[in-house]
Amino acid sequence: MADVVVLGSLNMDLVAEVDRLPQPGETLTGRKFSTVPGGKGANQAVAVARLGMATAIVGRVGADAFGQALRAQLKRDRIDISALQIHDSLPSGTALIAVSPLNNQIIVTPGANGALDENDLARLIPYFERAKVLMLQFEIPLSVVEKATALAYQAGLTVMVDPAPAYGPLAADFCEYISILTPNQTEAALLSGQSVTDVASAIAAAKMLQQQGITAVIVKLAEQGAVCVTATDSFVVPAFAVQAIDTVGAGDAFNGGLAAALCQFDRFNRHYERATLEPAIRYAHAVGALAVTQSGAQSAMPTADRVDAFLRQHEVTTLGQH
Ligand code: RIB
Repeated sequence: MADVVVLGSLNMDLVAEVDRLPQPGETLTGRKFSTVPGGKGANQAVAVARLGMATAIVGRVGADAFGQALRAQLKRDRIDISALQIHDSLPSGTALIAVSPLNNQIIVTPGANGALDENDLARLIPYFERAKVLMLQFEIPLSVVEKATALAYQAGLTVMVDPAPAYGPLAADFCEYISILTPNQTEAALLSGQSVTDVASAIAAAKMLQQQGITAVIVKLAEQGAVCVTATDSFVVPAFAVQAIDTVGAGDAFNGGLAAALCQFDRFNRHYERATLEPAIRYAHAVGALAVTQSGAQSAMPTADRVDAFLRQHEVTTLGQH
């Protein structure tokens, strides 16, 4: 049975590498095209599995070649896909991605991901008996995310919600069941209704979100690190400086690292404090830093050995020695 279960999206990423992102209406010539497995749910599952955690994913793909390839990659990473359904009429989700050396642009078409419903919850719940962490993102219907969050929290799991892509404010009766919310800068602004431009404004937005009942809010600020706000504390964890070549999936890598780090603690220890969260965020930064130095989303997720070596190089305590 799984330590970590992911309820989320699977997409085939259709990636064009470009020198810069196109303007509206502009046609650009790309440098390279590739088709690689992605989707925030699947990326996070692969990130956690490569870090050595027993992982399961609940979701939907189409009965098409993309769906087959997405399932095959998860199997290669020894992820339990027994609760992954094949939709008989909708295509697999896709993401059209332009990657430039500086940033990226993504258009997601949900396909089968958009059809997740109560039946998927029925396939998710059996994992709650053993799992420590449930990971969710916003590439599947929000109503399903909200229900799964409440059920998992009531069952004693740590519920990590990555509000990507964000739509707007979160419902109050959703927030109270979220253990850890991990928006990036743009998402923190959208969710809080406040502008987030730097560390100070990220802390202000995180405080506003935390006060809605979330145990801990961690705002991912790329090279500026991450800010974390709990009921009793707020602190910054600096990022590692690396030469990024592809930031697609960087947030997913971070979330995978965070979930893996939190799996060290007892199943019901979800009253997270700075002493728990700070080393976990540092570990997550290391996973994210290694992921951006390689291209692709799932293909770039590092193994636990690589993360431990990276942390040793940077003279930081490794996951097993917190
Ligand atoms: O977070 C990166 C992911 O966002 C990509 O893999 C793409 O599929 C989109 O879901």
